[in-house]
Amino acid sequence: MKKWAIVENITIEKLVFWGKGFVRLEDWKVAFITGWAVPQAVVDIKITKKRKDYYEAQIVNVITKSPLETESYDLFPGAPWMNISYQEQLKIKQTQIEESMFHLKKYQEIINFLPIVPAPEQFGYRNKIEFSFGKYISHRDDIRQEFNVWFHKRGEFSKVEDYDECLLIDELQNEIYRELKQFCKDSWLPVYDQKMNHGFWRHFMMRRMHFSEDILIVLSVYPGFFESTENTDNFDEVESLEKIRVFLKSLAEKYTGIKSVYISHNANKADTLIWEMELVHWNGVITETLLGLTFDIWPKSFFQTNSRWAEVLYSLVKDFFLEYQKGEKIWTVLDLYAGTGTIGMIFSDVASDVVSVELVEEASKSGEQNAQKNGISNMSFVNAKVEEFLDDYLEQNKKADLLIIDPPRAGMHPSALPNILKFGTQQMIYVSCNPATLSRDLWYILENSDYRIEKVQAVDMFPHTHHIETVVSLVKKQS
Ligand SMILES: C[S@@+](CC[C@H](N)C(=O)[O-])C[C@H]1O[C@@H](n2cnc3c(N)ncnc32)[C@H](O)[C@@H]1O
Repeated sequence: MKKWAIVENITIEKLVFWGKGFVRLEDWKVAFITGWAVPQAVVDIKITKKRKDYYEAQIVNVITKSPLETESYDLFPGAPWMNISYQEQLKIKQTQIEESMFHLKKYQEIINFLPIVPAPEQFGYRNKIEFSFGKYISHRDDIRQEFNVWFHKRGEFSKVEDYDECLLIDELQNEIYRELKQFCKDSWLPVYDQKMNHGFWRHFMMRRMHFSEDILIVLSVYPGFFESTENTDNFDEVESLEKIRVFLKSLAEKYTGIKSVYISHNANKADTLIWEMELVHWNGVITETLLGLTFDIWPKSFFQTNSRWAEVLYSLVKDFFLEYQKGEKIWTVLDLYAGTGTIGMIFSDVASDVVSVELVEEASKSGEQNAQKNGISNMSFVNAKVEEFLDDYLEQNKKADLLIIDPPRAGMHPSALPNILKFGTQQMIYVSCNPATLSRDLWYILENSDYRIEKVQAVDMFPHTHHIETVVSLVKKQS
């Protein structure tokens, strides 16, 4: 089948990783549909990419709506699965986890999958949102929108959509977003275009913590705009930036929960939110309290985006430990990929000593401060790559009794995998936000050691999206 070929009248079998639709084609290959897809819908698709074993495709026409679909997707910006009933979403996620580990049967015939923990709140649960500024220009659809602020169109990075709300954040966050968007639009400064490397407005990040209600804002702009030939209206840099500062300060006066506001001057083509940071308003660092512990959160710190359900996730990790170790105190816990050290702190009362390992310096530092703030004195914070830390730690012949592993989406670095096996701990607990890399890493562990999967449980921290958090307890076979 050629690129751009149209395949008609085909049924979407299921949703797989990252919410892609899955269909089987006549040539024995399969296609993954990016963009909108609901299982059991009958559609016509267009092949957009040809790979060795599969195709990528997009829907061009819906012939029969899926019986699972309750409403139209367009009604629910930011909540792409909203048109699938919540019970069905849970089923899809549970199946994805179980299917992703199917190949592990080669090493372990029976895996104990506990049912996914559903979310208590299905809306307004995100404490962090990142919107992009951009255009939506489509000659085919006759759309020309020069100033949009929202998420990228699914599967089309060059286009940014524009809605006045996102259902995954709360009403106050939406209100601030709308005010900020209006101000930026009224400035007549253009949005940044990464391909062309021109324009001004880049990103808008906001955190509003669930329990403390503290707010942090980072507005990212491209300073190079003022020197560019594109600045034909001769916007003055000093004057424009001053207006922005005045506006941001007035926003912080109006919404008293806003504690810190930064402008990130990103002169780089690469799209990182955090660059040269200018502090515009300061009423202290934002904090959040989870399971009785208080955490300071800085712009670069990783912090779970659903605070309420982070408590559930962390409690599950601890329960997996307590149930297996029967409440016994242990010596050393390694909290790998630790962020601000949240999980490590929760384990500090059952261990003599916790070592928290994290790549981002700011996160390690705030972890250290957070531990102090909470009166925890048996934790150390190592700012390093896990793969390098493990080499050094093992070389010094140091021991560990429990490993907590919570890597980013890419999973563990290949060189870290053999090293975690060298400790021979009775238990390892792996927390994952990506079933694909989780099952890849588990494959390595089962193939190369005498660990078995004791149990697996997913937590639905992100309703109406394809995201899944999974906790896996691995224990030594002989025990
Ligand atoms: C999924 S987060 C987990 C954070 C933490 N456990 C929590 O629950 O808040 C993954 C963390 O790993 C960090 N990270 C990414 N690659 C790393 C590496 N190679 N070595 C150490 N940390 C890394 C990221 O900065 C991020 O803070």
